[in-house]
Amino acid sequence: MTEKILIIDDDIDTLKLVGLMLERQGYQIAVASNGTIGLSKAASERPDLILLDVMMPDMDGYQVTERLRSDPSLAHIPIVMFTAKTMVDDKVRGFESGVDDYLTKPTHPAELTAHVKAVLSRSIATPAAKAPEQAQIISFFGTRAGLGTTTLALNVGVAMQQTGTSVVVAEINPGRGSMALVLGITTPTGLTALLSRSLKDIHLRSVEAELVTHNSGVRLLLASYQPQEAELDDAVPQMEAVISNLVTMSDALILDIGSGVRPFTRPLLTLSTRVIAIVEPVYPSNIIARAVLEEMFSSGLERSKTSLALVTRERTSLNIPWKQVEADLGIELAGIISPAPELAQQAAQNGKPLVMLHRDTLTGDQILKMAETISSQLTLAKTL
Ligand SMILES: Nc1ncnc2c1ncn2[C@@H]1O[C@H](COP(=O)(O)OP(=O)(O)OP(=O)(O)O)[C@@H](O)[C@H]1O
Ligand SMILES: [Mg+2]
Repeated sequence: MTEKILIIDDDIDTLKLVGLMLERQGYQIAVASNGTIGLSKAASERPDLILLDVMMPDMDGYQVTERLRSDPSLAHIPIVMFTAKTMVDDKVRGFESGVDDYLTKPTHPAELTAHVKAVLSRSIATPAAKAPEQAQIISFFGTRAGLGTTTLALNVGVAMQQTGTSVVVAEINPGRGSMALVLGITTPTGLTALLSRSLKDIHLRSVEAELVTHNSGVRLLLASYQPQEAELDDAVPQMEAVISNLVTMSDALILDIGSGVRPFTRPLLTLSTRVIAIVEPVYPSNIIARAVLEEMFSSGLERSKTSLALVTRERTSLNIPWKQVEADLGIELAGIISPAPELAQQAAQNGKPLVMLHRDTLTGDQILKMAETISSQLTLAKTL
């Protein structure tokens, strides 16, 4: 098999020259002219080795290295860093951020080939460096605040765990969490602690250490309810790093991404296998839901991976029939949850998920059914 090398450099001449040299040696080449493109190509092309420039305008080589090393699906790819400098400090910093080897620019073709060969043969000799299995990501997204998104994400997670799927539920809603409180946990620190770290400190061990295991078996990453921590909404690279680690820990990763369009909403929806949009079938929530979803669809969310969860919290004769909501929004239904204010409140006060405390009720049934529907959509997504 031909080995693939990704070259990340903002200097077009280097890209061409080095690319050509390596192509002549029989390697397959992919190129990227900045760090951001480099990261997305690393994910899509899955190269066997990355040649990386240090000095680039958007993100320097060290930052690119840290991002690659914090993503378990990319962390194993060896990196050779290009530098115009020979300063010892730079090399030390590079090795600290996880670089495997160095090349000084301008590079002699023979030296380039020798380093590439050596690093590649070392990485082939350590077969442990293999990307781990990825969980399916199911994002619960509120088209408005307070519709029951957190309740549903938690309960569907517990229901899935009870059918033998291993589940991690993460409440990605900094400073506006409620999942901990409804489970009787008064000091949720997990999400805040991770989002406050620098990228190089977000890795499998640090993420795992912040998870809380619920007695259902579900593992939880909990958001705080300290309003000032809502500013962590902007920590999008950290969130992506947290999720790329969480995704290696279970069969299903359920994200409660709260409501509204925030800095992390689009990137996290893009990462998701399925998106469950929570909609209240009553005026004016239906109009707001349509506006929010149309905005998401026009900015790249795939309609085909999105389904609706209709949650009615109060019974009125003015509720809009589900078939009409489904037709208005143009996406299929994952399930319906009927009004159950007392059950929801009792569950919260007892610190137990509704689906455990009130399993034999209509609401319990509706949650189990929704979990089943979502699981069947996952199996389909897996075999496609
Ligand atoms: N089926 C239901 N019927 C009535 N009330 C419900 C139902 N499901 C949840 N609730 C109640 O609705 C309130 C909001 O629930 P929850 O915290 O899950 O919503 P949320 O959409 O996550 O809110 P936020 O936008 O603040 O994150 C809670 O008091 C909860 O007990
Ligand atoms: Mg919530």
